[in-house]
Amino acid sequence: MRYMSSNEIRNTWLKFFESKKHFIVESAPLVPKNDPTLLWINAGVAPLKKYFDGSETPKSKRMTNIQKCIRTNDIENVGLTARHHTFFEMLGNFSIGDYFKDEAIEFGFELLTDEKYFGFPLDKLYFTYYTEDITAKNKWLSLGVSESHLIPNDNNYWEIGEGPSGPNTEIFFDRGEKYDSRGIEILENDLENDRYIEIWNIVFSQYNAKEGLERKDYPELPNKNIDTGAGLERFACILQDVKTNFETDLFYPIIKKIEEISNVKYDGQAAFKVIADHIKTLVFAIGDGAILSNEGRGYVLRRVLRRAVKYGRTINLTKPFLYLLVPSVIETMKDFYPNLVTTEQIVTKIILKEEEKFLETITEGEKHFFESLGNNNQISGADAFKLYDTYGFPIELTIEYANDNNAVVDVLAFKEELLKQKERSRNARVVNDGMNEQQEEYLNYFDKSLFVGYDTLSIETKVIKVFEEGIILEKTPFYATSGGQVADKGTINDIDVTDVIKLPNGQFLHKVDYHFEENQVVMAKVNEQTRFNTEKNHSATHLLHQALKDVLGTHVNQQGSLVNENYLRFDFNHFDTIENNQIIEIEKIVKAKIKESLDIVIKQMSMEDAKGLGAMALFGEKYGDIVRVVNMGYSIELCGGTHLTNTKDINDFAVLQIESIGSGTYRITASTDTNIKKELKVFMMHIDKEFNQINEKLSELNSTKKYYLDLSENSYQSVLNNKELLIEARSYLHQLEKELETTKKLSVLQNIDKFIGKNITKKEVIVTNDLNSDVLKELTDAIYDKIKAETILLINIANSEATIIAKTDGKTHAGNLVKDFTKLTNGRGGGRDTMAQGGTKDLSNIDNAIKAIKEQL
Ligand code: ALA
Repeated sequence: MRYMSSNEIRNTWLKFFESKKHFIVESAPLVPKNDPTLLWINAGVAPLKKYFDGSETPKSKRMTNIQKCIRTNDIENVGLTARHHTFFEMLGNFSIGDYFKDEAIEFGFELLTDEKYFGFPLDKLYFTYYTEDITAKNKWLSLGVSESHLIPNDNNYWEIGEGPSGPNTEIFFDRGEKYDSRGIEILENDLENDRYIEIWNIVFSQYNAKEGLERKDYPELPNKNIDTGAGLERFACILQDVKTNFETDLFYPIIKKIEEISNVKYDGQAAFKVIADHIKTLVFAIGDGAILSNEGRGYVLRRVLRRAVKYGRTINLTKPFLYLLVPSVIETMKDFYPNLVTTEQIVTKIILKEEEKFLETITEGEKHFFESLGNNNQISGADAFKLYDTYGFPIELTIEYANDNNAVVDVLAFKEELLKQKERSRNARVVNDGMNEQQEEYLNYFDKSLFVGYDTLSIETKVIKVFEEGIILEKTPFYATSGGQVADKGTINDIDVTDVIKLPNGQFLHKVDYHFEENQVVMAKVNEQTRFNTEKNHSATHLLHQALKDVLGTHVNQQGSLVNENYLRFDFNHFDTIENNQIIEIEKIVKAKIKESLDIVIKQMSMEDAKGLGAMALFGEKYGDIVRVVNMGYSIELCGGTHLTNTKDINDFAVLQIESIGSGTYRITASTDTNIKKELKVFMMHIDKEFNQINEKLSELNSTKKYYLDLSENSYQSVLNNKELLIEARSYLHQLEKELETTKKLSVLQNIDKFIGKNITKKEVIVTNDLNSDVLKELTDAIYDKIKAETILLINIANSEATIIAKTDGKTHAGNLVKDFTKLTNGRGGGRDTMAQGGTKDLSNIDNAIKAIKEQL
């Protein structure tokens, strides 16, 4: 056994299997492409499932790969053992109905023990096998493995989630007593240890694991297959003769960097391992298009990042630090994953942003955590929920904090709180989907129906099936809602088609409010105008998608879209704020591409050819071997929708709105051609409404000025202009109102004689009505000065309230006067000897009170 770098290990593996006629498959992105059952690619076999289940035929029946993987089911162990990771690379070889058990074991034996390859000493290797699988055991024996190194195990059955599964044989390397003084009983009893390292798993993959089924009921796969997986990091640990995977060349440069930025020496502390592992997961996952969010994949990533931040705090890393490690991850891994270099900038930004976000609340969160512990060392569901909701602590992180402090978390109650929250947000949108009950009927319906709507908009055809909800036609020009594009409108024999949906087996169901007969010949007609308008919006969506990438960055990817005849809506990921000038820029590009009159060419081709063209494909979309490519020159995208033949027919384009819809996702709404004005108006309805209110007030103030929506520009600039105009309108109205008040005040003060009357004395109660409150004090002062009074009490009644102001020469206590008055009227007030004020909302005794106070004076 000699030292091998990780690159040598990878190459040795691939070369060996290549020499055995295996086709080298490229590592697939971590975000699964066509597999809703998987959050992450979690094994070498995961991206090859389609070959195992027979839904696609591979080019070669023998394949080998080195697949990047994420598994977070063991995350609590990461940092605590020598060999657990959230990100790792799996070396694999696969046979799809080609070789089986015999050759698989022979290949394994040769590659592991031959000096030309890894050269592991046979006496250090141990083999477990599925207890019933005597063939596997005998095969190992025949190659020279001694009986004492072969251990039966009832648990040797591999499955992870849905997909290929089967009995397996596992190969372990014994690192010797210094890692554990216990011997072979560790393997016999399946005990946790760092001595016998599982380095390779060979699965005799014959069954298709399905959720809800018992193992014995799993359906057989079309072929007997081989699926194997070896751990690169573990190979490196053994071949580089280091204590844990973290001291191999796959991690050590990152550990060194952590030492440098933390100023703490590495001595096996968990924090270093956790951080080195987690940063790799983040760099690879984000580089492959994953985002951080509050659900699914995004939540897993968020949890990984926050766990790393938490551990960072134990080695003095209290400011953002993960982003500083990105270059060392890339440096360590780029030889084999050159793509990392292109995503470095964006990944760094996203990580920094998320770190900053969590650091804002973590200190407060930790405080809340310790307060919540109380005396019983228990975190209630409500507290755990608060930590989650307010301070961004994933529940798993709270549990880790609890473990650190010998406390427990009421996870069940937490889950209830979470459900309640989901319930609250669900109540806001009631979904009524009749599909569910019908599923069975539709699932079992297999008749062929042909979509002819790419080139034909009306056709005579036949009803081939009548369901309660609608009918199926032999041929249909109607596009069914899919890929974000809404269904066509139109008629069947002059009866309106209200909706068209795709059934599970691909036929289109036309919803009509009429009873058609099966076999009836009908005329199906798509409404040309709505189809044309929808196409304008769909083709514009493609231009927009590319323009977003050009302006905001190549990381931008579609997260959802809606295209109808009025407007288009496009959701995409972006980690940063978006400036108005960027939106205008994006819009400009789309407008320019319309002006350029680009031909829109649609072709069917192989996925490989499409990739060669640089076509954009969407994460999580299902594409077959043959794909439909919509090519506008500027934008090339896989798409099944209907499109114009030239961009000039879009005619015009404007963004109507941009909003953040959470989780790092933005939504742009835009429109095309003659719909722009109408839609702009809809999107600025609230501005329009406010203009109307302002206009009303202005006319009350006798102003002739009026404000209207300015729709002179077909551009997002129009939205911005109107927002500005609204600000101007508000301030103009405000200014007029101020001026009016001043005028009123002046007129009151200039006409004080009106309040004084003829027989006024030096001690007087003056009652006024409906004066504005801010003039009262000045009026009192003015009257007082004018008649050189001793005591003036001004009582103003306005808006069902009375206000009282008292000014005296001090001989009578002004404050007491006000108090006397407010006592009689259930009011409040007070003040100094010469000046006081008060008021009441209770006018029931006001006349008596005035009389009483007059008498008192
Ligand atoms: N698919 C098998 C595993 O992940 C080889 O262990």
